[in-house]
Amino acid sequence: MTSSGKHPHISATHQEHLVRPQHTNAHGTVFGGEVVSWVDIAAACCAMRHSSTQVVTASIDAMAFLSPIHVGWVVCLDASVNFAARTSCEVGVKVTAFNPVTGERHHTATAYLTFVALDSYGRPTPIPPVEPQTADEHRRYAAGQKRREERLRLKAALQGRGAKTVAT
Ligand SMILES: CC(C)(COP(=O)(O)OP(=O)(O)OC[C@H]1O[C@@H](n2cnc3c(N)ncnc32)[C@H](O)[C@@H]1OP(=O)(O)O)[C@@H](O)C(=O)NCCC(=O)NCCS
Repeated sequence: MTSSGKHPHISATHQEHLVRPQHTNAHGTVFGGEVVSWVDIAAACCAMRHSSTQVVTASIDAMAFLSPIHVGWVVCLDASVNFAARTSCEVGVKVTAFNPVTGERHHTATAYLTFVALDSYGRPTPIPPVEPQTADEHRRYAAGQKRREERLRLKAALQGRGAKTVAT
């Protein structure tokens, strides 16, 4: 690590949850909102380790649930910081689930979240840049930077639409 940047592996987090009946929907598979909550927590821990501050979730990109997760399975969340701008960073989370008895394993979802670092007054505060090292980290960095541009374009468009709604 240099004095200014942080390698993504320093803040990478791995969390696991055993799926119990209280996590399920009417079909006996995991409730999607539960997975989103686990994703948000894993990603926030990662963002806090990168920024060494408190953070808030600014946005969660669209998420697709690729396969159902059953009671008694284990959900694994692997989170790492892909890209950081001035006060915000993108964290990518890969969600996999496995049956601990049979070993059957599925990639369930991938999520991208943006966190903003806050100072003790609750104001956005600067964070270290990400210093990618491996080919994968460089690929994620470039993709994260591109997604950020898209996200900010979307935010500006929504704000424009919101302003019109208020005016009419
Ligand atoms: C996130 C929040 C702090 C941003 O505040 P803001 O007044 O827009 O601050 P700024 O315009 O200075 O932007 C700060 C950073 O957030 C980023 N940001 C703001 N809105 C964003 C969005 N919707 N998606 C991605 N990044 C966003 C900006 O790009 C900027 O990043 P940068 O400094 O790295 O360039 C503010 O909107 C907030 O507090 N939201 C509520 C967060 C919350 O409560 N989350 C929990 C779930 S409800």
